[in-house]
Amino acid sequence: MVAHGFLARLTAAALCLLAIPISTAVPIEKRTGVVPTLSGGENAMGGGTYPRANYLSDGSIIGAYTAFSNGDSILTVVHSTDNGVTWNQVGTVARGATATTDIDNPYPFQLPSGRILLVFRNHDRSNGGYTFFRITICYSDDNGVNWSYLSTPASDPGPINGNWEPFLRLAEDGKTLQLYYSRENSAADQDSLMRTSTDGGASWTSATVISGADSNNQRDGMLGVAQISGSNLIAIFESETNGGKFSVHSVTSSDDGKTWGNRKTVYAPSGFNAQAPQITNVGGTLVASFQTDEDGGSGEAIKILTSGDGGATWGNKLTTFPATSNWAGLLTLNDNASFLSLADHSGAKAQKVTLS
Ligand SMILES: *[C@@H]1O[C@H](CO)[C@@H](O)[C@H](O)[C@H]1NC(C)=O
Ligand SMILES: *[C@@H]1O[C@H](CO)[C@@H](O)[C@H](O)[C@H]1NC(C)=O
Repeated sequence: MVAHGFLARLTAAALCLLAIPISTAVPIEKRTGVVPTLSGGENAMGGGTYPRANYLSDGSIIGAYTAFSNGDSILTVVHSTDNGVTWNQVGTVARGATATTDIDNPYPFQLPSGRILLVFRNHDRSNGGYTFFRITICYSDDNGVNWSYLSTPASDPGPINGNWEPFLRLAEDGKTLQLYYSRENSAADQDSLMRTSTDGGASWTSATVISGADSNNQRDGMLGVAQISGSNLIAIFESETNGGKFSVHSVTSSDDGKTWGNRKTVYAPSGFNAQAPQITNVGGTLVASFQTDEDGGSGEAIKILTSGDGGATWGNKLTTFPATSNWAGLLTLNDNASFLSLADHSGAKAQKVTLS
């Protein structure tokens, strides 16, 4: 994933849960509460890491994670017809020797046509060093069983300019695909980027920078995006400067992703890390997840925060997976009042959470 610098930071910016009034308040149609409660236990998706999931048009859910077997990395696709309680493996997208083929960070997404895309990082390496970086897309026209190559929206030669953690969404026009990802400019500087496609992901525009352009010693990474309402979006990402602790930040867009600003701190535990965030809108309540070592011990736990005001303020912290858990994803369930927190907690797992 990212190179984690754990040098102590002298000035810890304890900005968590700080209310910042914004002049451009976004009207939010709220249909559910802001208080999260775990519902049932952890449900296994499969043996692997970095779980992500999205609904298909038939009301079932497609999930993806990276499995490891016999020295290979395997992008694995699973399916649930009961809102994430049980999962069945339906296919594999790509497989390669882990030592030379770093395939990971899968994100599944269905187009209005019914075609399913899987976007992922697809790097070459030798002797532990990266020789080439790619974001690759494969597609399936049979609900995830068979997969074929579609495109490589971003690539860079190694070893500096890594491209990581892709995320797809469809713009409000219903046809423009947006690809969000992180790109390293140097070991100390990483930016959040976005490209668009109007032909179903076959060809892509050049990248625009949505966060990090103003600083060359700031590592913004692992972003996710949610719609607040209409053309108002919020993107969430981790950041660190000068090898310090990671904290979670957001930027917003009022033009459906074309331009971004209003950078704010979402969560910055003093002296600890909060990183690898994702975000989703659950019936008008925003939910952010991240992993943190703030409880001490050796590993990180997955926690969530909620916001009832479009991301201006955050609270109601809840642990959804205890340590050690990593690389959390989020999926709003179709009752618009509950969601799945996904994580690698001794394998890819889903935990339902309800809001009231
Ligand atoms: C699709 O996958 C199934 C199951 O692995 C296999 O039997 C079939 O031959 C594949 N079809 C194509 C067109 O590759
Ligand atoms: C959930 O929200 C989506 C998007 O606004 C809407 O299409 C759907 O009808 C909602 N479902 C329920 C059960 O309210």
